[in-house]
Order: sequence, then structure tokens, then C-alpha cells
Amino acid sequence: MSSATDLLKLHLAQKAARGVTHVALTREAQTQLRLVRPAPATKPPTPRNQPAVASPAAPPAIRRVEQAPLPAAPAPVAPARPLPERISLSAPSPLTPQAQTRDEMLAHLALEAENNDKARSLGTLRDIMVFATGTPDAEIVFVGEAPGAEEEKMREPFVGPAGQLLTKIIQAMGLRRNDVYITNICKFRPKIDDGRFQGAKNRAPSVGEMLSCQQFVLAELEIIKPKVIVALGSTAATGLGIEGTVGRLRGQFHDFRGTPIMVTYHPSYLLRREQEDGGGIAEKRLVWEDMMKVMQQVGLPITDKQRAYFSKARG
Ligand code: URA
Repeated sequence: MSSATDLLKLHLAQKAARGVTHVALTREAQTQLRLVRPAPATKPPTPRNQPAVASPAAPPAIRRVEQAPLPAAPAPVAPARPLPERISLSAPSPLTPQAQTRDEMLAHLALEAENNDKARSLGTLRDIMVFATGTPDAEIVFVGEAPGAEEEKMREPFVGPAGQLLTKIIQAMGLRRNDVYITNICKFRPKIDDGRFQGAKNRAPSVGEMLSCQQFVLAELEIIKPKVIVALGSTAATGLGIEGTVGRLRGQFHDFRGTPIMVTYHPSYLLRREQEDGGGIAEKRLVWEDMMKVMQQVGLPITDKQRAYFSKARG
């Protein structure tokens, strides 16, 4: 048992070193952990209908949390124009009273997302839940679409080719991945056909798939309270109730429940453009202009060198 525990510790330390602040556990893993580590002796007796031992990583009673009173939901933001497939923003997931720190709240949320029957019962999403990465102290939250193959493997958003480009963008802003928070509007990789022979193929999540995860994203934003949200691509924007093409939405801040949100091109689109016309510099420049607005909004300095990135002068 101790070697399994050591391995688990090592695995978690490696994740922490990569900036992962919380992990999701499958139901089976939760059961195993409960068996390995009994609840502390000081814990008050558990009611009969609840498990006798608690998971060390999270408070035991997900059901109880679900029954906790909902925090007052902020009024939904009216989108700039009517939505063709309207997304009405639901109340954030209830925040557990047992979770004291934002890290604990996010860890708890990740656990709820893992056990998200609403998403799982759709049958159109793959099994592995990929939650988020970064710091709960982030001033900037990036919201993408859904995990891809690499993300499923690593259980971390934006680690594949698009993720590597996103990391470069974040670094160009003078930040590290660990300085921001990166999440997806859909926490599961959408299946293509029955998902068995999908390989590296991905598709955008449907409105229903996004809605099945929406309460978690709203709760993440509620916990982190960033200064700015960046929606990567129109799918993420739609999932946050902002409808329109990136071409029309980008370049200015919109309002997301009192927080400025910038919609910009998804890194995958930049990669596709790179393939198509051997550069995609013009689109990279547009994204960079959006990111400079984000930097300005959070008070990050912008050097002349940074201002010139992807400008025509650089070719
Ligand atoms: N694209 C996304 O939108 N999210 C990921 O996590 C990876 C690629």
C-alpha cells in the first residue's frame, strides 16, 4: 500500500509542478481512496444514509452539497443580439460550505464535474472528464471549447498543439500558464459517431453538451472572479451567452455578469490558417491585438517590442 501511496504522491507532485491545482477522481478511485484512508477520529458521526468514511481530497457529501442553498444568481447578461440557439445562463453550481479555500472549492467542483450525470447521460460525450488548470488567483481566465485527444490523455486542458500555441500566447503576454486559469466550456471530449474509432478527430460541443457543463464553468468564474475572461472561439462565447462570429465580436470587451470578456480566435483556427496560407500572420496579429487589450485591462505593462509582435513591419 505504501508504494501505491508513494506513486500517487509522486504523480500529484508532478501535476502540481505543471501547474495543475486540482484533480478529478473517478468514482472507483474515490472508493479506493476511502478504503485506504479512513475519516479522522474527530469527525462527527455520519448519518446512516451516508458513506462511513470520507474521501481525503474532498468533503464526502456531494448530495448534501447539492442540497445546500443556492447563492443568489446574478442576473443573466443580455447578449448583444438574439441567439439562434439560445443559451440561458443557469445558476452556478452551489459552492460547498465545507470548502474553505478557493483551491478546495475548485477541487470539490472538479469532483462534482466528474460525477456529472447530466453530461454523462447524454451519451454523446466521451468518459474522461478534463477540468481546468492554473491558479485560482488568476486575473485572466481563458475559456476554450472542449478537450481533445491529448487533453484526455493528460487530463489537462490545452496541452495538445492548440494548447502549445495558447501557452506561447500567454508567454508573449509576459505570463506563465500557472499565472492564469484555463478551462473549457465543455468538460468532456465530444464523441464522433460512437467515439470508438475517433483517433485525433474532434468536433465542437453542441449547445446541449455545453449546457450540461455550464454550471461548473459559471461556478469556476464565480470562485476565481477574474478581472478579464477570454473566450477562445465562438463556441466558448456562445456557451457563455455571447452569440456572433469571432470576426464581429473580437476587438472589444463585452460584458459577462459584470466581468469584461474578450472573444478572440481559437488557437486551433490560427493553426489551421498557418497550414492554409503558410503563415496566418494577419489572424495572429488580430489575436495579439486582443491580448494587448486584455493586458491593458489587467494592468500588465506592454513593451514596444511586444507592441510590434506580428505587425506587418515584422513581416
Ligand atoms: N481546444 C480546446 O478548446 N480546449 C482544449 O482543452 C484543447 C483544445
